[in-house]
Amino acid sequence: MLYQVRKLVKKFGNTSVLKNINLEIKENEKIVIIGPSGSGKSTLLRCLNLLEKPTSGSIYYHGKNLDDKLYKNIQGKIGMVFQNYQLFDNLTVIDNLTLAPVLNKLMSKEEAISKARRYLRQIHLEDKENSYPMDLSGGQKQRVAIIRSLMMNPEVILFDEPTSALDPEMIGEVLSLILEVSKEKITMIVVTHELNFAQEFATRVIFMDHGKIVEEGDKEQIFKHPRTNRLQQFLSNIQ
Ligand SMILES: Nc1ncnc2c1ncn2[C@@H]1O[C@H](COP(=O)(O)OP(=O)(O)OP(=O)(O)O)[C@@H](O)[C@H]1O
Ligand SMILES: [Mg+2]
Repeated sequence: MLYQVRKLVKKFGNTSVLKNINLEIKENEKIVIIGPSGSGKSTLLRCLNLLEKPTSGSIYYHGKNLDDKLYKNIQGKIGMVFQNYQLFDNLTVIDNLTLAPVLNKLMSKEEAISKARRYLRQIHLEDKENSYPMDLSGGQKQRVAIIRSLMMNPEVILFDEPTSALDPEMIGEVLSLILEVSKEKITMIVVTHELNFAQEFATRVIFMDHGKIVEEGDKEQIFKHPRTNRLQQFLSNIQ
């Protein structure tokens, strides 16, 4: 088991944003999380990456308590891709890609560069290695952000609405890359409202509302036979 989340509660001040989340995620699962704004999707992802500390409850990673010490030891095994790319604006594409793996002594500079170039060729951006992020389109930036997370050989990548800041014509190229990556043996958890993508990608879909997991199941179950009114309503609103 990759993740076991037990009775996870997250409060900001007096507000409970995650209310008793229980969740198990196996290696190689491709999970989509859907749910209305404010339901806690980003907060849950951030807890899985220790960007937020749980108020109570536990998160186990390969059966071990995911605390700061473990997180340091597994450096880079949990990748994250945000809505707004978060590339370093003052670094070229190739430096963005090679910085973390070299700093963390995962590989030599030379190895990192040749690995980065392989990925850049795969996404047809080999001519952009010396460009700065500001000279790339939103879709190009996001694809670079995705291969940057792959540079660390992660076991899991968390995607928080990776296409929601993009112009419509760039959404497809980013989703295709995520689908391509999903053929690898890697666990992926994607918050998205792109239902066509979810249909193709997901082995499991989780619906959150008001800080709780309201329904989870396979695509058929969630999209074709929603059990709760809340999910039925949510799906008809976004379709
Ligand atoms: N750092 C924070 N401090 C205080 N409140 C926060 C913080 N982060 C999130 N919240 C609150 O927690 C709730 C859940 O937020 P979260 O961002 O997890 O929702 P979400 O499902 O990702 O929403 P969206 O679809 O809009 O991205 C919201 O009410 C939000 O205002
Ligand atoms: Mg969010």
